Parts: sequence; structure tokens; C-alpha cells
Amino acid sequence: MRLTQEQLEQFDREGYLFFPGQFTAEETRALTDAVPGIYRRREAYNVREKGKDAVRTNFAAHMYSEPFAKLARHPRMVQPVMDLFGEPVYMHQFKINGKAAFDGDVWQWHQDYGTWLNDDMMPTERAMNVAIFLDDVNEYNGPLMFIPGSHKKGVIDAKHDVTTTSYPLWTVDSELIAKLVERAGGKNGGIVSPKGPAGSMILFHSCLVHASSSNLSPWNRVSVYLSLCAVSNHIRRFKRPEYIAHRDFTPIECLPDDCLLRDYPVDLPWKDGVPASALQTTSVPFEEMKRAA
Ligand code: SIN
Ligand code: MN
Repeated sequence: MRLTQEQLEQFDREGYLFFPGQFTAEETRALTDAVPGIYRRREAYNVREKGKDAVRTNFAAHMYSEPFAKLARHPRMVQPVMDLFGEPVYMHQFKINGKAAFDGDVWQWHQDYGTWLNDDMMPTERAMNVAIFLDDVNEYNGPLMFIPGSHKKGVIDAKHDVTTTSYPLWTVDSELIAKLVERAGGKNGGIVSPKGPAGSMILFHSCLVHASSSNLSPWNRVSVYLSLCAVSNHIRRFKRPEYIAHRDFTPIECLPDDCLLRDYPVDLPWKDGVPASALQTTSVPFEEMKRAA
């Protein structure tokens, strides 16, 4: 799938592109069917909502689940990002966010690049998210909210929030959010939230300010996020475990377009468990590690 000139201009202006119904119901089902089995596992890579059993976010399923390993190499998700960056990309992070019916908690206002810079020492913002809905997303089940054009601000001040939810995040304070929303049009488009059927896809800039509220509806809102980083922009520090911030910078090679519905061989290096090395962390920057080796 190639982006048109109009889409490239829209992405530059708004910081995101929405593709309703990008994957068919059959393709989406191949992924959705695998989620309960993954969420059941009592593993570090399943981060549960604060004080609850519901999974908030699952990490690195592409390393141990066949359908998600194929999704991680899907040309409809990966090719547009390679086109935007003009170079190969690797998988920086892979998440299946639960946002479970009744239990799914908020994601505070933040930029993803803020976290990737502060925690992982990713040199520039040449990385982005591509999300796919595994459930229908409506105004009731905690859709993502964007402040259009906010990516143009570059990296903005953030505080490390380790208390609001079960997952630490570099968040942007309310005063600044109010200003950014006002500048983006206030009540006339200052916040947008793409909604649509399961199988819809969103591509968004790593500096786009976003959030989502809790899910008090009876409908799950499971979504998958591929965070793809230009290979030349790989992270320089392994401060977070490898199942959260990957350390293999090999360029992704796409599978054929029908890969979710057919058998294609994929590597599942963590199918028998996450190796101990992936749990190890260090605050020493990568260049220094290389010099010391
Ligand atoms: C995220 O910002 O990483 C997740 C937001 C969401 O799933 O609502
Ligand atoms: Mn985010």
C-alpha cells in the first residue's frame, strides 16, 4: 500500500492518517482469536490494570504468537512507514492494549517520543505508531484522542507519572494541553478521535499528543500498536526490559499481503519463554557499551 501525495500532505499537517476498514473481518478474527490465550499468561509482558486482573497492555506478542508475528511484517502496516521515512524500519515496541469493558483505565495525555527519548535514548522522532482496532471503536469504549497538528511542537515538557495507572508514562500537564487544544481549533476540531469498525488502522506521528479515557462501556476496545523506528534511529540505551523496548535493529522484511489468512513461516524466538537477557536492563548508553565490549 502506497500513500498518495494528498495523504502525505495530510499527515504532515495533522500528524495522523486514519484508514477505516483497512483489514477484513476474517483477517481481524485471526488476530482477535489469539488474544485471550495471550492475556491469560502470568508473565511480566502482561501488564494488568491497577488493582485488577484485566490486561492493560501486552508486550512483544510478535515474538511468541504466530498471527501477531505475521501482523508485525504486514505490508499494509509497515510499508507506509518505510515510505514516510525513506528507509527500512525495525520494531521498537509491539503492544496489544486491552482497554477492557468496564475495567480499561485512562492513558494520560502524552507523546510517545517523549518516553522513547527519555527512557530509551532514541536520537530523533523518526519512529511512529501504526495501530489496528481488533474491536469496533466508538465514543463509549475509550477511543484514542489526538490534538491535530500537535506533532509540530516537537518534544514538549513532560513529567514521569508513576502513580495514576499501572504503567509509567511521561505525561503532559493540563495547562499545556488546554493551550494546544485551543490552538488546534478548540471546540472546532481541537481534539479528534478516529472511530470505526474492527480492522481499521491509524498511523500517527511519534510527537502527536494523544490520550484516551477509561472504558465504562460493556464493549472491549482491544487495539494493537506497532511502534516502528527508522533503523538509523535505533535506541541507544537499554534501560527498559527488551520485551518493552526491543534491541534487535534488523530491518523488517514484509510478508505477502494475504499473510494473515495463509501459512507463512515466521520466527517465534520467545515461544518457549522470554530469555533472562531480555529482562536485564542497564542505564549505560549503547555507545559506551559497545566501547566496553
Ligand atoms: C498509548 O498511547 O500507547 C495507548 C493509548 C490507548 O491504547 O488508548
Ligand atoms: Mn502513546
